[in-house]
Amino acid sequence: MLRSRRALLYVPGDNLHMVEKAAALGADCVCLDIEDGVAFNRKADARATIAGVLPRLNFGRSERLVRINPVGSGLELEDLNAVLPAHPDGFVIPKVHSAEQVQWVSARLAEAEKTYGWPSGEIILIALIESARGVVNLKEIAGSDPRLQALVFGAEDLAGDIGAVRTRPGWEIFYARSAIVTYAAAFGLQAIDMVWMDLHDLDGLRAESQQGAQMAYSGKQVIHPNQVEPVHAAFAPSDEAIAQAKRVVDAAAQQQEAGKGAFALDGKMVDMPVVKAAEWVLARARAAGKLE
Ligand code: COA
Ligand code: MG
Repeated sequence: MLRSRRALLYVPGDNLHMVEKAAALGADCVCLDIEDGVAFNRKADARATIAGVLPRLNFGRSERLVRINPVGSGLELEDLNAVLPAHPDGFVIPKVHSAEQVQWVSARLAEAEKTYGWPSGEIILIALIESARGVVNLKEIAGSDPRLQALVFGAEDLAGDIGAVRTRPGWEIFYARSAIVTYAAAFGLQAIDMVWMDLHDLDGLRAESQQGAQMAYSGKQVIHPNQVEPVHAAFAPSDEAIAQAKRVVDAAAQQQEAGKGAFALDGKMVDMPVVKAAEWVLARARAAGKLE
């Protein structure tokens, strides 16, 4: 079954107070950061804090992820070596622009799984796409490795990379936002949407989350505890949407038996694409624990 990845909450890995707080929030994913949320002179502290905290802290049902520094930064091997013995559930690789970067991390995970006798392939990978090259190479990245489960869209870094000015409507990054969710779908991956940076504007967060969900994103990156609940709500289908999806699926099954592919329900045409969309709603409801 699809793992629910609605809110992916970043926590600076060197901040023990925030890490402890994040573990208790019930976010679908908690991402302990060693990359851009951590100052250069604190990378070693972040590695040590994460390695120390993972084995002792109860994260409930949250997926325990670690964001390492980019492959090619010179920091990535030390990040992995420090954190791997504590066995996180997966790694987020930032600034991915080639398949080789994902495959390099995957090979290190394979070695660790062998060394520690863990089931092979159990540590998962998530790739952040946040550069022009990353967007242009989406096809090879999305198909790079069986551990890869999701693509994440980094809008702020992308804007910085190409020299775009970030605006609220976001047309300057809209091609990338659409491309990422489309390539993810083509390769059976989940897609996790951009960060809403305005900590105090929860209505703006809700609107952008809803837009991401409508685009078929499975979730959104978040940076503050207050953002978790609105994002969880936006990326789980509403009770009404679930009820309507059930009606569509049930009616379609009956009509198929009667030999009809297309039919009318409440004055609107229903055919295969509509049924598929309804099945997606039910799959997301199951992943979010709203449906058996
Ligand atoms: N995870 C866990 N706890 C967090 C948190 C996070 N991402 N962000 C804030 N908190 C905690 C604070 O420690 C504080 O706890 P306390 O009341 O027990 O002291 C509480 O939530 C309220 O925080 P608040 O005062 O509103 O925010 P702040 O000024 O302390 O922090 C940021 C604001 C932006 C610095 C902080 O939210 C943050 O570091 N977010 C993550 C940034 C990041 O990782 N960026 C890189 C990825 S894009
Ligand atoms: Mg980034």
